[in-house]
Amino acid sequence: MTAAVRVRSDSEIRSVTDAEVPDWIRALNTGFLRAPMASEAEVADRRSQLIPDRTLGAFDAGRCVATFRSFRQELTAVGGAAVPADAITNVSVTSTHRRRGLLSRMMAKDLAAAKDRGDVVATLIAAEYPIYGRYGFGPATHATEWMIDVPRAGLDRRYAGPDDGGRVDLVDGEDVRKLGPELHERLRRRQPGAVDRTDRWWQVSTGVVRRDGSPWTEPFYAVHRGPDGTVEGLAAYTCDDTWSDAKQPLNTVTVKNLIAVTPAAERALWLHLCSIDWVTKVRSGYRAPDDLLPHLLPDPRAATPLTHADWLWVRILDVVRALEARTYEGSGTLVLEVVDPAGPAGGRRRLEATPEGASCTPTTESADLTLDVAQLAALWLGDESAVRLAALGRVQEERAGAARSADALLRTSRRPWCPDMF
Ligand SMILES: CC(C)(COP(=O)(O)OP(=O)(O)OC[C@H]1O[C@@H](n2cnc3c(N)ncnc32)[C@H](O)[C@@H]1OP(=O)(O)O)[C@@H](O)C(=O)NCCC(=O)NCCS
Repeated sequence: MTAAVRVRSDSEIRSVTDAEVPDWIRALNTGFLRAPMASEAEVADRRSQLIPDRTLGAFDAGRCVATFRSFRQELTAVGGAAVPADAITNVSVTSTHRRRGLLSRMMAKDLAAAKDRGDVVATLIAAEYPIYGRYGFGPATHATEWMIDVPRAGLDRRYAGPDDGGRVDLVDGEDVRKLGPELHERLRRRQPGAVDRTDRWWQVSTGVVRRDGSPWTEPFYAVHRGPDGTVEGLAAYTCDDTWSDAKQPLNTVTVKNLIAVTPAAERALWLHLCSIDWVTKVRSGYRAPDDLLPHLLPDPRAATPLTHADWLWVRILDVVRALEARTYEGSGTLVLEVVDPAGPAGGRRRLEATPEGASCTPTTESADLTLDVAQLAALWLGDESAVRLAALGRVQEERAGAARSADALLRTSRRPWCPDMF
């Protein structure tokens, strides 16, 4: 076998000018294996979203060959604090210029700017697992998608809506744009792993703005209100039109988005979706792995997992602020040696946590745990277990029992969840 030839790129990496935006979009579409040429409408729409000094391109002989952009985001930490995040998206390198270090150079530039700006973390949704660990990102939330076989779920076929005084109503997109943002704010302020949504998110998700010219199917929207009339949940879903040869309906509901701020709303919306006449399958969309859903069904085995995968990846830029921003259910101290050779987060710090607050300070004491910054990201939102990471050799215990103590402090009773893709 011959050794791989290392070709480094001398392509220039810089912010994209307004005149270069169409070429940048062509490169992005090419990298994502979509038809390269964008319509005027797509160019205008994308242009409206780009923040000039946070939109990077690599240029070779005047042609854009790599794309990268970031924007300001708020990520909810354990306990509900919103931390400033550098959200990264539209990452692509044209196939003719791959593996020459272009992504590494764009990432280094963006992360340095994020650190200078004072962002606590950077976030992204990874197209492929092996790409981002090298830059200090770790998988901090996971997603599970289920397919519910409705006739097998053991549900009462006479279900006629909530019996606790709440109600479910179908509304249209305009209603969703009015009531959705406030409901989502209530959810994301209590949901570790959630990120903020812009007005544009609601416009895109209700079809007012068509992002890339792809065909639009108007979803159905179901709203749950509690007994006092307060909006507590919202589901957007589409349905196909499938019938058997024997003239039996076999329709599948596909959930685009379902958010709820009370268990009653969650229950009412899932039971609503599973009780629509003609519907024999419900595809859940990406939920938290410990979502209530399967257990809202009398027979949870009727919900088959389709996907179980990493979702939000986090790169901690400021360990002190990240650990002080979140809350802790118990009290304890932990000395962490964070390894971050290429980044700003390395060093030894002592975390002193109580349910009332936490402090994190540099120390010369002996470390309890040594871990890479990417592993800290997996622990920070409460999802991962230090004991498990130690068994995998990804966290090193410097004191016997330290991983167990770390779990007692850092893990949360419910898993984090990021409902959004960006
Ligand atoms: C993923 C992508 C952006 C990588 O760009 P790139 O310029 O080739 O990456 P770099 O040359 O900077 O690679 C840096 C390192 O990451 C590795 N790497 C990059 N992409 C990888 C992948 N998909 N799988 C495994 N390793 C990868 C490289 O081998 C290299 O490793 P090395 O330092 O040990 O040599 C590019 O392949 C691409 O555009 N893919 C299709 C679109 C995509 O997936 N975008 C990401 C959306 S989240």
